[in-house]
Amino acid sequence: MAGDSLRTGRLGDDRPESVTSFLSSMEADRWIGNADVLVDIAHVMMLERQGIIERQYAATLLSALLPLHRDGLPEEIFDERHEDIHAGIEAYLIESAGMDAGGRLHIGRSRNDEVATCIRIRLRELVLEELGLLAGLRRLLIDTAREHTGTMMPGFTHLQHAQPTTLAHHLMAYEAAFSRDFERFAESLGRIGRSPLGAAAFASTGYPIDRALTAGLLGFERIEENTMDAVAARDVVIEAISDCAILMSTVSRLCEELVLWSSSFVAFVELPDACCSTSSIMPQKKNPDTAEIMRAKAGTVTGALIAALTIVKALPMSYNRDLQELSPHLWKAAFESGRCTRLLCDMLKGARFNKTRMREEAAKGGSTATELADVLVREYGLPFRTAHGIVGRAVRLGRLDLATLDAAAREMAGISLLAAGLDKAGVARALDPEFGISVRKAPGGPAPEAVQASISAAASRLDGDESYVAGRQKAISRANERMIQEAQELIASQQN
Ligand code: ARG
Repeated sequence: MAGDSLRTGRLGDDRPESVTSFLSSMEADRWIGNADVLVDIAHVMMLERQGIIERQYAATLLSALLPLHRDGLPEEIFDERHEDIHAGIEAYLIESAGMDAGGRLHIGRSRNDEVATCIRIRLRELVLEELGLLAGLRRLLIDTAREHTGTMMPGFTHLQHAQPTTLAHHLMAYEAAFSRDFERFAESLGRIGRSPLGAAAFASTGYPIDRALTAGLLGFERIEENTMDAVAARDVVIEAISDCAILMSTVSRLCEELVLWSSSFVAFVELPDACCSTSSIMPQKKNPDTAEIMRAKAGTVTGALIAALTIVKALPMSYNRDLQELSPHLWKAAFESGRCTRLLCDMLKGARFNKTRMREEAAKGGSTATELADVLVREYGLPFRTAHGIVGRAVRLGRLDLATLDAAAREMAGISLLAAGLDKAGVARALDPEFGISVRKAPGGPAPEAVQASISAAASRLDGDESYVAGRQKAISRANERMIQEAQELIASQQN
């Protein structure tokens, strides 16, 4: 077996296997193999157009590269004797196309700008995929919320019954959080979409390269200008991992609720069998394992973020090999976030909400006491703090009925609510969770018409977001197709 094609000049190649595989990023580079082929194609086309290499060499190189693009990379390229996929593909091209053509591939570039470009291409793809998944999740939450604007449930603070709300309101809270995740990823996409290619090792090159041309061929919006920054920068990677970690923190919160809600003392939801496991000893068990593992994956992705920040901090300009250690954390974070988003959608789709249990709990724990205090303010002109004290004292006395409230009012404020006209029906109405919800119609509140308005607004935002994703995807695949077609034309022009 031939050795490492890069170690024919300066260094000997008699390394122990332990060092060779320690240095190689080949396994993680499986994530960027296809991107690297695109980068090679763009680079060769630019070299030819700029008159840096002759057309015949470009045609030979492209004839070897296009099958790799079409059929994928042969397994032999992933041999760990190569330091990375860039060296692997170059060695393959030299072998299959000959040194005259293959040996010209790397004119005017370095693996430093090459890998930075590959990472951004693959990351762009993954972010767009995540945006699509998030859009699907938001659509599901919106559709489910539509069915539950009247489904009463308790709302919690400190995990104590706090005030009644509806399932729709609760689901739309998650929709709002996932919309911000969507925004974050979409904003990151703008920064990811700048091409480092042409930066070479860090100081660009003396060849008359055209950076804007390769950027355009690869579907980038512009170039990452400063060439030292272009090879050294990994903030876009850290940002993407951070987007993933923030998303996963919300996924994990929702999963925590599903775990809680599916327990038999809460029993608000039954999760689909497909997402649950049973016990090897307790035959009755149905455990929410998918939600639990997702909750843990948030920890894994956060770990990737901490690793990324720690690897990059204090690295001097420009490229340092430490950066190779960063990429696997990115792929892991993106992979786990993607599959958790997808599985969360499946789990929610199959979840059966128990409306009866939710209604039973809606008004428990004195959770309508706030509305009762508000009624005392609205209808009897009390300051809120006084009303709050009266209702709180009645709770302490053990009941929220007319007599106890009146006793509490005498004690706390020296007034009689009875004398002021409060009657049993008035108390009952104030304590009715449906009533409490119906008056909470401020924007974003739980009143059915307020939630309905949120749902409509969220649905139209989502329509816009979905077409944004489709548009971005289309623009990139168009650039891709155009480049491949131009490469084919170049080859054909040489054959004629
Ligand atoms: N495998 C390397 C990485 O992931 C590619 C760049 C190598 N550059 C170098 N100067 N050794 O960062």
